Amino acid sequence: MPMRKLYRGGDPRRAQNIAELRAMAAARIPNFCFEYLEGGADDELTLRRNRAGFDAINFQPRTLVDVSERDLGCELFGSRIEMPAIIAPTGFNGLLSHEGDLMLAEAARDAGIPMCQSMVSTVSLERIVESGVRHWMQIYPFKDRENLAGVVKRAEVAGSEAIVLTTDVAAFGNREWDRRNYRAPMKLNLDNMVDVATRWRWLFDVLIPHGMPRFRNLGDFLPPGQDSARNAATFLSSQMDPSLDWDDVAWLRDLWPRKLIVKGILRPDDAERAKQLGVDGLVITNHGGRQLDTCVAPIDVLPEIREAVGPEMTLIIDSGLRRGSDFVKARALGADAAMSGRATLYGLAAAGKPGVARALEILRSEIDRTLALLGCPELTRLGPDCVRLPQR
Ligand SMILES: Cc1cc2nc3c(=O)[nH]c(=O)nc-3n(C[C@H](O)[C@H](O)[C@H](O)COP(=O)(O)O)c2cc1C
Repeated sequence: MPMRKLYRGGDPRRAQNIAELRAMAAARIPNFCFEYLEGGADDELTLRRNRAGFDAINFQPRTLVDVSERDLGCELFGSRIEMPAIIAPTGFNGLLSHEGDLMLAEAARDAGIPMCQSMVSTVSLERIVESGVRHWMQIYPFKDRENLAGVVKRAEVAGSEAIVLTTDVAAFGNREWDRRNYRAPMKLNLDNMVDVATRWRWLFDVLIPHGMPRFRNLGDFLPPGQDSARNAATFLSSQMDPSLDWDDVAWLRDLWPRKLIVKGILRPDDAERAKQLGVDGLVITNHGGRQLDTCVAPIDVLPEIREAVGPEMTLIIDSGLRRGSDFVKARALGADAAMSGRATLYGLAAAGKPGVARALEILRSEIDRTLALLGCPELTRLGPDCVRLPQR
């Protein structure tokens, strides 16, 4: 058998699928950046479980249905999105491509979907809102609540639609593959320094013209000029607040007048509690396998959470979606939409904005084809009858 090979060049139009964008990303960016993007916690069992969860669900298609006209759109918080996807908040995107957050935002805007910006992003939230994307701002529960409220205020003034509070970071996930690249905090080992020197496309896009990216939304937390990666890394680990609890959600509910989303829910009882506190939407997630290892996969617990909160509450899931068919499965099992983390980041790391646009185009065409083959011309008509869950 000849060895099968994925394309690893720089033209995103040649990527057949997200896996190919991933191979292109690995060829373009240095190993330490790829490990940052790719890795999960501990033995990466959650990471694998996320994929296995989607793979184990089978479709049960309806035949002889007119699917000549198909609609992939749906409503999210009362307005239409063109497909059931949202860009997930991911920190430090400037490491993958210069001003990567802006590229994600522009590609999301062009595709008619929202973008959730990470608080530890490398472009200011005001610039991202100016791009015209439907903007959500993710926040981490930093101990310094006064400055946290300042970020929330900035999002309000800029015009963000939602605040997304990430709640699964009581401790940093144990990402050993990431740490292995350093001889001391933020100091690459020799192997990785040699590797960086060979990644000329990345060097001329990111490091040589611009230096290491800076955290543009942490300005008020850090002394002036101290928003470099090295300073911020130390700061971030000291600021994560393990005392975060439901009172803080209530505090945020009082502070923020628009849509409030809690990201980090995996249990029906937590989902119900968030609903009682007036939270508008939930992200059912295990942080893409980067936090707790041997954790349940969001797709596996989605049906029980939908049942607990009822049909009205906005439910979003993420973790492990790599094919358009995964978004269709998520919708069929009760999610309003799903977040794309690594799938679109592979595009960004492979080829900047055209790479993100290609990732979204691939997902869109896969959702479209899945709907056609499933005998379901409208995304909004998907339901549990379209899928068969694995026997437990
Ligand atoms: C490189 C990277 C950085 C991330 N940074 C953040 C972050 O700053 N805030 C956050 O809430 N989640 C963050 N996440 C988690 C994502 O929002 C999302 O939950 C996860 O990527 C979904 O899984 P997937 O990558 O398999 O799609 C990050 C994920 C990755 C891969």
